[in-house]
Amino acid sequence: MTALKNDRFLRALLKQPVDVTPVWMMRQAGRYLPEYRASRAQAGDFMSLCKNPEFACEVTLQPLDRYPLDAAILFSDILTVPDAMGLGLYFETGEGPRFKKTVSTMADIEALPIPDPQKDLGYVMDAVSTIRRELNGRVPLIGFAGSPWTLATYMVEGGSSKDFRKSKAMLYDNPQAMHLLLDKLAQSVTAYLNGQILAGAQAVQIFDSWGGSLSSAAYQEFSLAYMRKIVSGLIREHDGRKVPVILFTKGGGLWLESIADAGADALGLDWTCDIGQARQRVGAKVSLQGNMDPTVLYANPTAIRQEVARILASYGSGTGHVFNLGHGITPEVDPANAGVFIEAVHELSAQYHQ
Ligand code: CP3
Repeated sequence: MTALKNDRFLRALLKQPVDVTPVWMMRQAGRYLPEYRASRAQAGDFMSLCKNPEFACEVTLQPLDRYPLDAAILFSDILTVPDAMGLGLYFETGEGPRFKKTVSTMADIEALPIPDPQKDLGYVMDAVSTIRRELNGRVPLIGFAGSPWTLATYMVEGGSSKDFRKSKAMLYDNPQAMHLLLDKLAQSVTAYLNGQILAGAQAVQIFDSWGGSLSSAAYQEFSLAYMRKIVSGLIREHDGRKVPVILFTKGGGLWLESIADAGADALGLDWTCDIGQARQRVGAKVSLQGNMDPTVLYANPTAIRQEVARILASYGSGTGHVFNLGHGITPEVDPANAGVFIEAVHELSAQYHQ
């Protein structure tokens, strides 16, 4: 395999010294980029982009051709796993994800298969190897999956939800059924992420987008426990290099100490916590990724630079920080402002790495 030309993202995750703070953006390939919208129109729809490795590779590289980003993230979706379990994922324009089948009883859950990464999700494995080949060592490639709890909410609700009415009712009415579902998802996600690592993903992130909707006790039992299980089953070294694992619970700021104990290398932070305080709370155990409010990108360049400077100063000196947004970049952002953000991170962080 080609040697990495820029490895500061992997180095920061492993707390090795870096020249400047590395940066990437969640949802960096997406609708705010006109070239993404053009590729999607050419492919037909979002799932056709995901299922065609050449298209998935093309859109993965689009943000890297515009900006000096320090990592690429596989273009795909967390809902490929429930799709491969037979639920039938589709996207209604402007409505977000939907499933043809939902899961509501113990019998539904017992019938769910554990997908085989090669056989059932081969298009994702092919996308990973195609992207690695095309990156040719420019920057590391991040693989990803959804957390069991986050995936379970989509499978039980049949799509996105504001209140998680059905999934939380199942959690309290029938905890045994919810545990079986989460256990099957943890097995599926472990195999899926290991497949991505073997295909060439150089770091992996678990998106727990809806863990923050749970009570503190339910978070531990129904979300964090299953992420811990996944982390303990992951391949942690491949091709002679460590493969860092990042856990991102949106809304997880109150629980950082216990998330830091789950065995991952890094935690993703949303924008509601102060990154300097988070650093003190987790100590030397993990690196931190985040945490600018994505809506700052609607503001003017001076304000964007000020916010980057504030977060860098709050984290302070030394390695262990990967700059990112606290959640995905939104479709309405001006691509020029994303450029201001990324350049500000590199320029303003050099002083913290002497
Ligand atoms: O970060 C990246 O650039 C990689 C690609 C990526 C996508 N989805 C592409 C996508 C990643 C990492 C995801 C993760 C994902 N998908 C999450 C976790 C992260 C988060 O945002 O909390 C979740 C919850 C999903 C489920 C999902 N996929 C929803 C709710 C939607 C519709 C709403 C939305 O935000 O667009 C999607 C569709 C989706 N996934 C799009 C993209 C680029 C937009 C589809 C389009 O082009 O119309």
